[in-house]
Amino acid sequence: MTYSRIVGTGRYLPERIMTNADLEKIVDTSDEWIRTRTGVERRHVCAEDQTTSDMCIEAAKVAMDDAGVTPEDIDMVITGTTTPDLIFPNISTIIQHKLGIPACTAFSLEAACTGFIYALTTADKFIKAGEAKCALVMGAECITKLIDWSDRNTCVLFGDGAGAVILKSSDKPGIISCHLGADGQYKDLLYYPFGASKNLAAAGTDAGKIMMTGNDVFKVAVKKLGQIASETLEDAGVTKEELDWLVPHQANIRIIQAMAKRLDMPMEKVILTVQDHGNTSAASVPMALDVGIRDGRLKPGQLILMEAFGGGFTWGSVLMRL
Ligand code: UT7
Repeated sequence: MTYSRIVGTGRYLPERIMTNADLEKIVDTSDEWIRTRTGVERRHVCAEDQTTSDMCIEAAKVAMDDAGVTPEDIDMVITGTTTPDLIFPNISTIIQHKLGIPACTAFSLEAACTGFIYALTTADKFIKAGEAKCALVMGAECITKLIDWSDRNTCVLFGDGAGAVILKSSDKPGIISCHLGADGQYKDLLYYPFGASKNLAAAGTDAGKIMMTGNDVFKVAVKKLGQIASETLEDAGVTKEELDWLVPHQANIRIIQAMAKRLDMPMEKVILTVQDHGNTSAASVPMALDVGIRDGRLKPGQLILMEAFGGGFTWGSVLMRL
């Protein structure tokens, strides 16, 4: 039996940091409101001329170095992102070329904040099927470029960044169980109103902003994430008590606390980056994973549950041994 295993991680965060105090100068908000309602204290914001692939390349270099792999070793590139550089060519082909990775399977997928979980699950299937041996898998976002900085409902929430992992074939897991879900009936609760084939001409005008009914998103997120975590553990025959760490999507500290409670996990067993990164959409899980590994909390052999929830809605979880 062939499994897949994460053998290296990396992250990149843009230089510019925006604090809650900075946002107080732009919109009618307060540090106190943002901290208590979301857990965010600061977020990184990409430069005007910086693209999602630029950030991916930096994160990927760190992950490749960590894994001890060269560009020639990689035979698959997948990026989970809602904010690719261009409509085409695909962002993964840009990354593949700029990193000097020889021609291989390279594509991106868009599942909003669940993009990395979908990408990792896809790469795991390719490796298990024997179609790939060493995948570069990323979650990355220049989400602040979609933000209306006069809308306090959304501008305080998000940040930019990129996370990368190297996923290799292995004779032991590694990735144990992946679960994905989606339900388009919720599409109006969280969306961006412009795309390649809809309203493109209006993009960038005053009407352009992320549309979110935060309260309702919150409720469905807690419900669906709870369900999928239970399904994932059940499927793998693992109990909550056996989990060493939760590496959640970092949308809101209160959603994360609700998940930890449901899993009977103390917050000391949860990797938190929401205070420093904000909600970086598809980048949040791989960056949190990298933070936990690099500061020595996540150790080889430990059992880790990763989960995410995003627009669509989409949701997913991955159970793995490091
Ligand atoms: O990553 C993808 C998935 N996304 C999520 O999971 C996001 C889920 N939702 C949330 O995280 C929360 O719903 C938010 C953080 C977005 C909002 O928190 P909330 O506790 O649900 O607040 P609310 O939307 O119910 O708004 C409460 C009040 C409102 O004022 P009134 O109507 O009660 O007078 C808002 O206008 O807070 C007001 N408000 C703000 N006040 C100060 C909204 N944004 C702000 C702000 N500063 N930035």
